[in-house]
Amino acid sequence: MNTLCHVFAIILSLISIEKVSAIDFRIVGGSKAPEEYGKFHASIQNVTGHHVCGGAVVSKWYVVTAAHCVHGANPRFMNIVAGTNNLDVGGKRYKVASIIVYDRYNSTSREHDIGLLRTKRPFDLRFIEILELRRQTLEEGDEVTLVGFGAQKPHGSSTRKMYVLELPVFNQEICEYAMRYNRPVTDGMFCTFTKIGEGTCHGDSGSPLIKGKELVGVVSWGIPCAVGFPDVHTRISPYVEWIQSHIKQYFCYI
Ligand SMILES: *[C@@H]1O[C@H](CO)[C@@H](O)[C@H](O)[C@H]1NC(C)=O
Ligand SMILES: *[C@@H]1O[C@H](CO)[C@@H](O)[C@H](O)[C@H]1NC(C)=O
Repeated sequence: MNTLCHVFAIILSLISIEKVSAIDFRIVGGSKAPEEYGKFHASIQNVTGHHVCGGAVVSKWYVVTAAHCVHGANPRFMNIVAGTNNLDVGGKRYKVASIIVYDRYNSTSREHDIGLLRTKRPFDLRFIEILELRRQTLEEGDEVTLVGFGAQKPHGSSTRKMYVLELPVFNQEICEYAMRYNRPVTDGMFCTFTKIGEGTCHGDSGSPLIKGKELVGVVSWGIPCAVGFPDVHTRISPYVEWIQSHIKQYFCYI
């Protein structure tokens, strides 16, 4: 390892060592996910092995999740189980080395609700798949796929089996209007909506939304459990450079 890499490693290890706050949101109205959807998913778990939030594997060392899932958390009390669609069977467990929350993340407005977890050892790519990041913007009506281990009804607990749901990107202006009593829906966010009985629930936060093999979004906020409001997600495209800059700093460990 060269000196430059060493310096980066030290800087990275000093970034945000913080405690886990309350987390939310399982998919309502979805179907059991086939094995392939488990390959790139990262279940963020607490010390007792409970699924707390979802995430997506985006490099050999990094998971993208929602900032609100990891903000203020201590990486020592967190584990990642990646590469499975069933938390009781298979999957590989990884310790978290550091938490990186986007510096302009605002916990009140949920703007820039994106964060990274770096693992202590590289993901085993025989079992785990890396998702590409989508730079292209999403259009209204684009079909995206949500995968996660969230609850299937209000006040329910997370499932051990992964669910998948196809959702169309919802009209941004109508979404803003629908959510006006909650928070503003900003450009860094997009919405999905089909009907009552289809959407995100407790434990889905941080879960990936994909289009093909590309990560397009991360579950951020909403009125949980598909009671008739759109779900709001962090858009990936504005954050691709930021994510890439962290991944590149760690190239030397490949
Ligand atoms: C882990 O999460 C579960 C489910 O939310 C909770 O009941 C449990 O108390 C948590 N364990 C710790 C140590 O925080
Ligand atoms: C966070 O968002 C809230 C609500 O929009 C706003 O009042 C506050 O000033 C923001 N905080 C920062 C640090 O920008």
